[in-house]
Amino acid sequence: MKLAVVGTGYVGLVTAAVLADFGNQVTGVDVDEAKIKILKAGRSPFYEPGLSDLLIRNQKSSRLEFTTDYSQAIPEADVVFICVGTPSDNNGQADLKYVFAASRSLAPYLKDGAVVVIKSTVPPGTHLKVKQIIDDKTKKEYFLASVPEFLREGSAIEDTLHPDRVVIGVDDEQAQKLLLDLHRPINGKRILTDIVSAQLIKYTANAFLASKISFTNEVARLCDAYQADVMKVMEGIGEDKRIGKAFLHPGLGYGGSCFPKDVKAILAFGKQRKIDLNVIKGAHVTNQVQVDYFISKMEAKLSVLKSVKVGVLGLAFKGNTDDIRESRALILIENLIAKGAFIYAYDPMAMDNVKKFYPDLKISYLPNWQAVAKKSEVLVIATDWNEFKELNLEELAEISKIRYIFDGRNILNPDKVKQAGFDYVGVGR
Ligand code: UGA
Repeated sequence: MKLAVVGTGYVGLVTAAVLADFGNQVTGVDVDEAKIKILKAGRSPFYEPGLSDLLIRNQKSSRLEFTTDYSQAIPEADVVFICVGTPSDNNGQADLKYVFAASRSLAPYLKDGAVVVIKSTVPPGTHLKVKQIIDDKTKKEYFLASVPEFLREGSAIEDTLHPDRVVIGVDDEQAQKLLLDLHRPINGKRILTDIVSAQLIKYTANAFLASKISFTNEVARLCDAYQADVMKVMEGIGEDKRIGKAFLHPGLGYGGSCFPKDVKAILAFGKQRKIDLNVIKGAHVTNQVQVDYFISKMEAKLSVLKSVKVGVLGLAFKGNTDDIRESRALILIENLIAKGAFIYAYDPMAMDNVKKFYPDLKISYLPNWQAVAKKSEVLVIATDWNEFKELNLEELAEISKIRYIFDGRNILNPDKVKQAGFDYVGVGR
């Protein structure tokens, strides 16, 4: 099939690369010329394991190309995917300006019978506005659909190839058949539904997962108060299949480009219809104060943070990515700096992004964890990178004067940390 993918962020680029790999002819289009230049040179604009190989392979075999020109990308496409960002606006609502701009730009070039799939996360009913915009610019017959994306950064390709389910929301039978054909090589149960339900599946999935994390973080506080071990408590409830083991890992709270914005957006469009989403609101509030809670645990041990040299391992919003959007590590650092602490930090992939987007943040960047340890009086783990899970505690004891290790991601073994001579402070254990 001939496909166009509008927007070359995580969702767009991974979708384009995977669908090209299945033998489709895919054109990725983006208004960002710098990004298209990078892609044309065979590089990925961000770090995602396995993505560069996929991009190179499919560009070499001419199944995948990139352009800033809609008139080149759209006219032959049987399916056009809209994969642009929907960030939060000042009121927490999803800002749809990129979705609308993309719709306006692609509309004049649509071919008869094309299916326009909105993959961007958009509030229920958005497709009706998209339809108005497209109808203003073309008399061609086309179909709208919603096929939400459930990939996680850091495992985006694997998640796209092997999702638990593929949700196809579309009102036309022919268009549904075409989308089923296109997704044939991808595993996972098919959920066939209407467009609005598909749009809500995306938001409620993210809100539910975010609620699981906040629930876990609340239980962690209870465990701190009663000296229980949250890891065992979560293992104990996770074995119940109705609850499930995933997303019960406590820490500094959820970050990234999706959960924080989607939770705010669902609250906003719930409010528009006067629906109180109290559980989801609670998840948001708990997440907002989780970093404060962790800092209060640090203060309980250190009494003051002023002038303390704090080593921070991890800046990305989670391991395996260079993405720092809504990273709890950065919120933690901002708060520690406000309290007068000095920050020495290392992250395997995300340091360049922090330097670029937060040039005023007073951080001394160091090339590895050892260098951080040598400079610091206490150590904080802020991101769950594998290399921090495997921290060599004997070496740490040898090269540093650190006494406290504050494990903001509960990734170290407290017994081993104590055996190596440190005081361990985790979340709820
Ligand atoms: C999330 C969803 O997991 C994807 O299914 C969805 O497609 C994506 O949002 C999206 O809407 O585009 P992502 O933001 O890449 O994916 O990252 P996650 O792995 O879900 O982690 C999100 C945050 O939750 C991270 O800060 C992570 O550290 C935190 N988290 C996750 C926990 O604190 N505890 C957990 O048990 C799991």
